[in-house]
Amino acid sequence: MVEKIKIIFLGDIVGKSGRKAVKMLLPELNKKYKSDFIIANGENAAGGYGLTEKIAEELFSYGVDVITSGNHIWKREFYPYLQKTERVIRPANYGPGAPGKGWTIYTKNNIKIGIINLEGRIFMRPLENPFLVGKSLAEELKKETPFIIVDFHAEATSEKIGLGYFLDGLVSAVIGTHTHVQTSDARILANGTGYITDVGMCGALESVIGMKVDQALEMYISMVPRKLEVEKSGKLKLEGVFLELNSKGKAEVIESFRLISS
Ligand SMILES: [Fe+2]
Ligand SMILES: [Fe+2]
Repeated sequence: MVEKIKIIFLGDIVGKSGRKAVKMLLPELNKKYKSDFIIANGENAAGGYGLTEKIAEELFSYGVDVITSGNHIWKREFYPYLQKTERVIRPANYGPGAPGKGWTIYTKNNIKIGIINLEGRIFMRPLENPFLVGKSLAEELKKETPFIIVDFHAEATSEKIGLGYFLDGLVSAVIGTHTHVQTSDARILANGTGYITDVGMCGALESVIGMKVDQALEMYISMVPRKLEVEKSGKLKLEGVFLELNSKGKAEVIESFRLISS
C-alpha cells in the first residue's frame, strides 16, 4: 500500500499560450513538488475552444497524465478520440449517447487514481444533477481506489462550495474549474476532502481569461457576440493546486500556486 501520493492539478489550459506555459513552467514546479500524478483541465487547449488528438498528445508529452474538460469539449472531430481514450474525460452529467466518458481510473507505478468530471448547472446548461451523478460515481470508484479527484467545471461559486460539502469525506478533492480565475479558498474540509472553488488557468497573463483584451472589450461595449482569439503574446501564467493524499485517500495538503514567466 502506498503511504501518500502527490498530485498537481492545472487549471484550464487556454490555447497555444496555455500549452507554452505548461511546457515552460511545469518542469520547474514539479522540481519542487515531485508529483506522482498530473491532471489538467484541457477544455480550451485547442485555439481556446476544445481539444484535438494532437494537442492532447502534446500535453501528455509535457507530463500530463489525465485531461479533464467541460462545456467547451464538444468538437465533432474530437469525438472518435474521446470515445477510445482513457486519458481524456468530459463531464459525466450529460445524457445517454454523449461521446466519451465522465470518469476514468488511471494507473501509474501501480497506483490507481480515480478522476471524475462534472459540470455545474447554475448559469450553465441544464444537465443531469451533478451532485447525484457525482456521488454515485464516487461510490463506484471507491471500490477500486481510495484516491478520487473531482473536477467540478462550474460557473457559480455557491454551487461549487455546495458540491465540496456534499462530497466531503467521500472523495479526496473537489477542484473547481471553468471561471479561469483562481480563488484564495484552498483548504481541507472537515472530513478530509481538499477543496478549492477555482484553480485558475494556464495561459496569457494579460488577457481576459486567456483571450485578447481588445476583442473582449469590443464585445462588451458593442454587445455584439463575436469569436474571441487567444492572446499569444506577453507573459504566461501557470495556475493550479498541489495535493498530498494519505493512504486512505484523505487530503493532508492542498496548496494553490501561480507561476508567472519572466
Ligand atoms: Fe475553460
Ligand atoms: Fe468552461
